[in-house]
Amino acid sequence: MVEIIVNLEKNSYPIKIGMGIVAEENFNKFGCGKCAIITDSNVEKLYAKDLEKKLNQEGLFSKVFSFPAGEKSKTFATVISLGRKMIKSGFDRKSLIIALGGGVVGDVAGFLASIYERGIKFIQIPTTLLAQIDSSIGGKTGVDVPEGKNLFGTFYQPLEVMTDINFLATLPKKEIKNGLAELIKYGMIKDSRLFEFLRNNYSNLGEKELAEIIEKASGIKAAIVSKDEKESGERTILNYGHTIGHAIETIENYRISHGEAVALGMVCEGKISNTLGLLSAADLKKQIELIRLIGLPVNYCGNTDKLIEIMRRDKKAQAGNPHFVLPIKIGAVKNEENKFAFAVKENIIIKSLK
Ligand SMILES: NC(=O)c1ccc[n+]([C@@H]2O[C@H](COP(=O)([O-])OP(=O)(O)OC[C@H]3O[C@@H](n4cnc5c(N)ncnc54)[C@H](O)[C@@H]3O)[C@@H](O)[C@H]2O)c1
Ligand SMILES: [Zn+2]
Repeated sequence: MVEIIVNLEKNSYPIKIGMGIVAEENFNKFGCGKCAIITDSNVEKLYAKDLEKKLNQEGLFSKVFSFPAGEKSKTFATVISLGRKMIKSGFDRKSLIIALGGGVVGDVAGFLASIYERGIKFIQIPTTLLAQIDSSIGGKTGVDVPEGKNLFGTFYQPLEVMTDINFLATLPKKEIKNGLAELIKYGMIKDSRLFEFLRNNYSNLGEKELAEIIEKASGIKAAIVSKDEKESGERTILNYGHTIGHAIETIENYRISHGEAVALGMVCEGKISNTLGLLSAADLKKQIELIRLIGLPVNYCGNTDKLIEIMRRDKKAQAGNPHFVLPIKIGAVKNEENKFAFAVKENIIIKSLK
């Protein structure tokens, strides 16, 4: 087992990574009476019973609360419905929420934990590659509204992240690809060696390779969050590909997955950086090639005006101007005095979308 610490003073917590680690955990140590296992309809069928059994063996009371799988469930309505069911089942301030699932479960369960009776303890058990390398770490929680993605939410850190690689055995290939999109992101913004590792191994990811990339990515994210929990500086770089990516998800009403949208976003935002003379044509080509080789989309034909209108409401936008993280080479982004996202002229944004 590998342990990585997210260092946030009194809110610090470990990310434990390994095979079969959930079965070996001691859940009593969290000092909570009742455990609410929050999950989605797919993960419930696969893993909820085992976790319930494990908690019962430890003498803990647990109950499963699930919602229909998919981004369309990442709403206030889901959070309220789960919360009301928990109240009716007698969960109180001393209870623990366990987020068992992908990024959607983590964001919904974390948001609920942050507001349930003004905040109760929660832990993350991520079951998708994307959640294991990204969304379970760092305490961003939230829900979508028709106006845009993640526009409501909180920063609320879990007590622990249990990254059990065994869960990935049942994950469909398409979902592995979604995780790889965020991995390309880490490569582009921070780690050229991770980018190269992906180029060499994307078609042959066994347990060993998966463990390696999960540990690497978790380490990168933990270090960035430890420096900048509330995204006032460097944490912004994790949004590479997301300004355009989130707008595409919104406009397509989540028919395109988060990973696919981020892939398209990185293609366009990489082009913006190239047009501005920051990212070389060779590095841009390498990025687009890797996205294509993995089987993620590289071309998007959507309504440009609508995309820009949605980007104006992005959380990084300032005075209605969308801002972008701009790679200067594979493994590094533009940074000016702790500023990591930049406004870009509309004609350049439009050109990148063509
Ligand atoms: N909070 C953050 O910092 C952060 C960071 C990145 C992404 N996100 C969010 O994460 C979400 C995307 O997460 P995701 O890609 O994990 O999507 P997801 O949670 O919808 O999971 C994808 C699919 O895989 C299924 N699944 C999950 N685990 C499985 C398993 N082990 N075996 C078989 N099927 C399984 C799910 O039921 C679902 O159908 C988006 O909403 C995105 O905004 C949040
Ligand atoms: Zn993302």
